[in-house]
Amino acid sequence: MKINVTKSSLPPFEEYINEIQSIWETQWMTNMGEKHARLESELETYLQVPQVSLFTNGHIALEMAIEALELSGEIITTPFTFASTTHAITRRGLTPVFGDITWDDHTLDAAYIESLITEKTSAIMPVHVYGNICNIEEIDRVAKKYNLKVIFDAAHAFGITRNGQGVGNYGDISMFSLHATKVFNSIEGGVLTFAQEEYKKRLYKIKNFGIESPESVVFSGGNGKMNEFSAAMGICNLRYIDHNIEQRKWVTAMYMERLSDIKGLQLRQVQNGVKSNYAYFPVVIDEKVFGSTRDELHTVLADENIVARKYFYPLTNMFECYRGKYNADNTPVARYISERVLTLPIYPDISSEDIDRICSIIRKQSNVSDYYEGRLFVERTPSSA
Ligand SMILES: Cc1ncc(COP(=O)(O)O)c(C=O)c1O
Repeated sequence: MKINVTKSSLPPFEEYINEIQSIWETQWMTNMGEKHARLESELETYLQVPQVSLFTNGHIALEMAIEALELSGEIITTPFTFASTTHAITRRGLTPVFGDITWDDHTLDAAYIESLITEKTSAIMPVHVYGNICNIEEIDRVAKKYNLKVIFDAAHAFGITRNGQGVGNYGDISMFSLHATKVFNSIEGGVLTFAQEEYKKRLYKIKNFGIESPESVVFSGGNGKMNEFSAAMGICNLRYIDHNIEQRKWVTAMYMERLSDIKGLQLRQVQNGVKSNYAYFPVVIDEKVFGSTRDELHTVLADENIVARKYFYPLTNMFECYRGKYNADNTPVARYISERVLTLPIYPDISSEDIDRICSIIRKQSNVSDYYEGRLFVERTPSSA
């Protein structure tokens, strides 16, 4: 049986059918309908943020956030991310300026941001990679000093709190992806969170063709509206999010227990004060100590029908479409991590047998070739937090 790197969360079939039934009565399928309004309000509560705006997907939400903030020139960002972050900048006609990442949490290294600022810089767009929260305080300090906007790509960070506060409260705007592979999904979807009420109105028009009223179109907006079927999926999935995160926490604890004694395998620690969503289980392989390379381990797992992901590889500043424009030698830590990182399969109902199988293959491939014979130290119950 193939073990995929992730598996989409779905609510019970009957529950979704129940939720979408009213669409056949109203025949209202999109254009900010009743479910759209309900999901927005439920997400404001769950994410503990003052305002949210829903979109077709996370990528279009990022592009529209850049538009809403009227950014121009250069945006300081990270190359250790999914294509979307960088593409959102270039597709809006702006220039990404890449900073390096930190060794431990792989987010944009705030220590270098100031040195990358020019007179063209209008914003910083860091990413909470794997749900690791960026150096919020330093980013905020630099942004205020140079009057820059901050958009956090929080695609990986749904439901995370730091010191009891929802992470969507940082910067000017944060973007959470609700893609099918994420911790929480609306099939496809994206949500922007922000404090300023005027952004809500502006984003509404941007995602709805620039229409102000039936006979007044005030600028050339796009189409980023979430439809009612997606909103209904979001409403249903939101009922299970805490349970799913709890299960992921258990999976993470199992991996940690089985892999933490292997030298040359850097495992991720949850940051202080952070309540994680356990979205990913990345390992960074130091081949000299571990005994084989990331690519070798990736192949060995693939041969056993286990899909681990080189996430993120290549760096976005190495993409073919950007060849000749950016230089990955300027981001050596990102390059090092990107060539050595592998995210292991994680989803709420992955079985303990599958985790054991994955871990014993990793152990065999490492310099610690013995099998793990410990016992479960975390009971798999939804209330084990
Ligand atoms: C870091 C990051 N940014 C942006 C996106 C784009 O989100 P979406 O797939 O919802 O368009 C994703 C996910 O796919 C992502 O992982």
